[in-house]
Amino acid sequence: MKSKPLEKVPPKLKSLYELAKKSRKRSYSPYSGHQVGAAIRTSGGKLYGGCNVENSSYGATICAERVAIQKAISEGPLRIAEVMVVTDSTPPWPPCGMCRQVIAEFGPDALLYTANLKGQMESFQLSEIFSQAFTPAHLRKKK
Ligand code: THU
Repeated sequence: MKSKPLEKVPPKLKSLYELAKKSRKRSYSPYSGHQVGAAIRTSGGKLYGGCNVENSSYGATICAERVAIQKAISEGPLRIAEVMVVTDSTPPWPPCGMCRQVIAEFGPDALLYTANLKGQMESFQLSEIFSQAFTPAHLRKKK
């Protein structure tokens, strides 16, 4: 894990942060009160944002990361290079287990960034926080 204040990050990363922060403003989170924004960068350089969308049937809630990924995938096949998650929390929130699983499907080598509104940022390799992942390759293996 690496920690960096946001003012020291390169402009390309700053734009990923800005998209996640902007997406966070659209969060529908009347139950938890936690607004989460996410943004992904594909290996082709496209950016997609998402926010958490909660539901009165709590289990139907979807996290910001998966909203961003599903928006992206619905536009065509891709590989996830980077994922940014922005909350108003200290320390910043890392992706939940279900999101890690979904990121692993489309970006096993993804670099994750977690940041907050104060401008604190941490980064991880997905493999660092989600080792021994169950992947599409396991389904292809014959007994
Ligand atoms: N949440 C996310 O959007 N991403 C995560 O990785 C962690 C949790 C959302 C789901 C729910 O709306 C709220 O945060 C509290 O769990």
